[in-house]
Amino acid sequence: MKHVYIETFGCQMNKADSEHMLGLLDEINYRFTEDIDKADLVLFNTCTIRESANHKFYSQLGCAGSKKKQRSKDGVTPPLLIGVSGCVAQDKKNWLQNNFPYVDIVLGTNNIHMLPEFVKKAERGERVCEIEDELPLELPELPVIRQTKITAWVNVILGCNFNCTYCIVPHVRGRERSRSPEDILREVKTLALEGFKEVTLLGQNVTAYGYDLDSNYSKEKATFGFIPINPQYSLGKLIRYIHDVEGIERIRFLTGHPFHVTDELIDTVSELPKACEYFHIPMQSGDNAILKSMARVYSVEKYKQMVEKIRTKMPNAAITSDFIVGFPGETEKQFLNTVKIVQEIEFDACNTAAYSPRPNTPSASWEKQVPEEEKNSRIRYLNSVVNEVLEKKNKKYLNTVQEILVEGRSTRDESKSMGRMRTNTIVNFDIVTYHGKPLPIGNLVSVKITKIRPWALYGEIKN
Ligand code: SAH
Ligand code: SF4
Ligand code: F3S
Repeated sequence: MKHVYIETFGCQMNKADSEHMLGLLDEINYRFTEDIDKADLVLFNTCTIRESANHKFYSQLGCAGSKKKQRSKDGVTPPLLIGVSGCVAQDKKNWLQNNFPYVDIVLGTNNIHMLPEFVKKAERGERVCEIEDELPLELPELPVIRQTKITAWVNVILGCNFNCTYCIVPHVRGRERSRSPEDILREVKTLALEGFKEVTLLGQNVTAYGYDLDSNYSKEKATFGFIPINPQYSLGKLIRYIHDVEGIERIRFLTGHPFHVTDELIDTVSELPKACEYFHIPMQSGDNAILKSMARVYSVEKYKQMVEKIRTKMPNAAITSDFIVGFPGETEKQFLNTVKIVQEIEFDACNTAAYSPRPNTPSASWEKQVPEEEKNSRIRYLNSVVNEVLEKKNKKYLNTVQEILVEGRSTRDESKSMGRMRTNTIVNFDIVTYHGKPLPIGNLVSVKITKIRPWALYGEIKN
């Protein structure tokens, strides 16, 4: 038996892909190890959304390269194999091959199913580099070894048909391709049998799920924000289709685009008990001119209408967002419009990032790039506002009793358990017995919220 150490960067899609790679490697007798020194294969599943993500990977790749050199010097056999998959691999195949002679495998985002074959070749001393531009016509069903026990990622749509002018994702993940509802249902049923309680349906643009499966679909139509009239398949329909799987208590989805948040989806979430009232629908900017130059295809007013619709049906729904500051040409005034919208909408959480020019994206070569210092000072200010909003917003939970799905030990405080509310907010609480027995993970419990922090809440279990 051999061992693989896998380092995953980036989004939940990458985490899900890593779990599939572990499943594929298991079939050729590679088991996961947390100790890089015990590994026969080190795999980097990479992200390139911002330059900082690339840098994190390069420094770790360098360390792995030194380990490999050291092992061959010491005559340790078998030697260490190094593989790179994910979005940097997809984007920089030749550069990786030419500049890192110690990398044995470069595997594109559309080639995951070929990993066992590549590892076998690398074991024989070959260097393998394979990148496909598009996914195979028939989406392969991949084996999986999950790294979680209670909540599972389920890929439902791959790729993105939008062309936001800052974003490298369409280039590295290709066009939208949905999995069939039948395959997804099968996976969710298996998860339920394995004891999972929550599924998160994943896609770079998950709210466009199913439109490409429509018999009326054509490639020309399914571009930039296409919504078919009376779609045969949709995210709302998919949630209904998997809703009654016994054992699954909660269904979530990530990441949505405001353009595709339809009334049907909002109704579905508000009607179905297992569908969580949690909408991660990034807004990116609070300024109409910037949204236009980002090619986001909605305005501030449209976004606010969407928020209004969600909150009218579900007053307790969480709406969370991502924001980019320092997009090329963003003036101080336009940045302050973003600050204003965060305060006005009172998001339940926000990821903020300084704009990072990406290769193969239009805005990277635009004039009027905002200086780094200015971007950094804007992001510091925005983060302080986000924290104020969260602290204020979370106060409403104080002394309320919330339904929590227990996930395990708290990462912030090992002496506590943690779980999430339906709105995805993390709650930490003392490890106690529940109805006289040690509290098992995977239980839905009632927790009274006793302390509020911007990114987490604390509480006490109510027996
Ligand atoms: N599909 C989602 C976002 C996926 S990318 C959407 O449309 O909103 C995840 C986040 O990374 C984005 O929401 C954006 O805020 C950030 N991001 C993407 N490209 C970026 C760039 N070039 N610079 C800084 N942040 C970026
Ligand atoms: Fe990137 Fe835009 Fe697609 Fe989101 S919708 S993945 S930001 S191109
Ligand atoms: Fe990063 Fe690729 Fe996800 S660029 S954010 S890992 S789709």
